[in-house]
Amino acid sequence: MLLLLSLFACADDARIGEVLYLTPDTEAGATLYADSCAGCHGEDATGGSGPDLVGELSHTDEHLLGYIIDGDGEMPSYADWTDQELADVMGYLRSLE
Ligand code: HEC
Repeated sequence: MLLLLSLFACADDARIGEVLYLTPDTEAGATLYADSCAGCHGEDATGGSGPDLVGELSHTDEHLLGYIIDGDGEMPSYADWTDQELADVMGYLRSLE
């Protein structure tokens, strides 16, 4: 069981590595954000029913992408997005810093 869990953790880390290797298209990320995230995190990402993401940008990309890929509670999983879409939305969030 522990081995299985660590295999999953590795798969996720590998995916995050692939996403971070890509060059984000911030404009595409803004559209993805407006369509999929703004409803909970607010138009300007300062929070709504979901937390203020601008306030979370001190976290690493790995931490934030882990949430976006896996979800957590009310936060949906976006594991079915392409690596490029994940990179784009992450790039958009970084542009808000
Ligand atoms: C249905 C509402 C909802 C949607 C849609 C949603 N989120 Fe969330 N999100 C949440 C909630 C609630 C949390 C807090 C989860 C927790 O801490 O357990 C969260 C947490 C997060 C976190 C972690 C923040 C931290 O460091 O604690 C990130 C990053 C995030 N969301 C990004 C996104 C992005 C990017 C999208 C769009 C692709 C998105 N969310 C869509 C509700 C949502």
